[in-house]
Amino acid sequence: MAEVPDQPPPMPRIPKRAAAGLLGLLRARGDILSAFPEEAYRREVFTLRLPRRLLLVANHPDVVRDIFVLRHETYQAKSTSMVRALEPVIGDSLFINHGAVWEQRRAAIAPALHIAGLAAFETHFATAAEELADTLASGQAAVEIGAPLAAATARVMMLALFGERSQPAEAAALAARFTLYQRSAEHLDLMGLLGLPAWLGAGQGRTARGHAAALRAMVGEALAAVDTPTAVMEALRAAAGDSAEALVNEASMMLLAGSETAANALTWTLWLLATHAAPRALVLAEIDRLPPGAPDVAMLAALPYTRMVLYEAMRLYPPVPVLSREALAPGRIRRWDVPKGSLVLAVPWLIHRHSAWWEAPHSFRPERFSPEAARLQPKFTWLPFGLGPRVCAGAAFGMAEMLTFLAALLRRFTIAPAPGFVPRPRARLTLRPADGMRLVLTHRRTH
Ligand code: HEM
Repeated sequence: MAEVPDQPPPMPRIPKRAAAGLLGLLRARGDILSAFPEEAYRREVFTLRLPRRLLLVANHPDVVRDIFVLRHETYQAKSTSMVRALEPVIGDSLFINHGAVWEQRRAAIAPALHIAGLAAFETHFATAAEELADTLASGQAAVEIGAPLAAATARVMMLALFGERSQPAEAAALAARFTLYQRSAEHLDLMGLLGLPAWLGAGQGRTARGHAAALRAMVGEALAAVDTPTAVMEALRAAAGDSAEALVNEASMMLLAGSETAANALTWTLWLLATHAAPRALVLAEIDRLPPGAPDVAMLAALPYTRMVLYEAMRLYPPVPVLSREALAPGRIRRWDVPKGSLVLAVPWLIHRHSAWWEAPHSFRPERFSPEAARLQPKFTWLPFGLGPRVCAGAAFGMAEMLTFLAALLRRFTIAPAPGFVPRPRARLTLRPADGMRLVLTHRRTH
């Protein structure tokens, strides 16, 4: 196959200035990423007066650390818009709770995902990755990989929660429903952010609630079928106490938090590799040096460059593009008085592309994450897993899963962009390609 020339990583057109204000742009286009003007990629802090409250964007690592780490007590609560967008599916689970309830649930769940116990999940990673590769192998050369990846990462989470009895088709159904839910829920989220009355989104709200109910029913069924609980399930039960509803909440939360993010990171990583020949060759060289068979967690240490590629892909396309909080008490951030109830954001999408912290910020350069370069990079300029006490509980799990997936897929297939296709990043609850992700997959060799 002829070599495809490298392509710049796609991003929304950056408006020169916020002519009509961020609010106006949001209303006009409905996408927060394309609303940030040029100066948002240079500013340290900026604010917006929303109809009902102040919105402050922390865009400097010291300010981000101050809010999310040092002043966690005041800024630990998820924003109302985030809660409203997620609550129909995940109830009042750990992800959108705070205070003592969050603390108790976090303490119950986080140890089950700890890096020290990752080997317990390696067969799940490998099973889902091989099933995914088999599915893709039987399809057309040009494929949309977003949906199969979402199904495969949901499969990992279902195996981790419900054990070997759960079936690939259940994971695919769950992932498809999550996608439908996100599509309808994002409007509600935007409504909340803009402080618009809820009735404006009532139609979408009904659709979203329908998908949410279907999702919760699937999770309820899977829970009812568990006979021998997995370690993760035990942890969820400890978090949920005696309440059956709380268990559905926590299980749904875990399925969503653990699958959407990793699937999105993988879609963008594959695109970046398909469009950048030199990094692709280095990744392939590493993967081809692995011993044959499914890689276990210990073997993943032999993929340092592939790990750098994932870090860089999540810099350019952070699966969670916005971290939002609501102030529980009045405070002062830099020169701003921040009343109780204000929205306080850190935007990985912006800080990851900030001109003060990154050279050629919109280019794909995995070398930024070499041990030498990473030592020089200021802390809190790279936040794909969040930061502070609410940092992602599944970061090590997600990294091991994604490395296993890349190894399984790139051993089997050569990847290239589908002719004429350019993905468009779009911020939903996660950062998804707006029209899916189309790649040409060609078999490398038989296994
Ligand atoms: C590429 C993969 C992943 C990314 C980029 C990611 C990103 C994040 C981010 C940014 C947060 C914090 C959100 C905030 O502060 O508002 C978070 C929280 C969380 N993540 Fe992940 N995540 C990933 C994979 C996973 C996996 C695989 C699991 C489970 C196995 C998981 C479980 C959680 C949980 C339980 C929380 C809530 C933590 C808390 O509020 O205390 N994540 N994740």
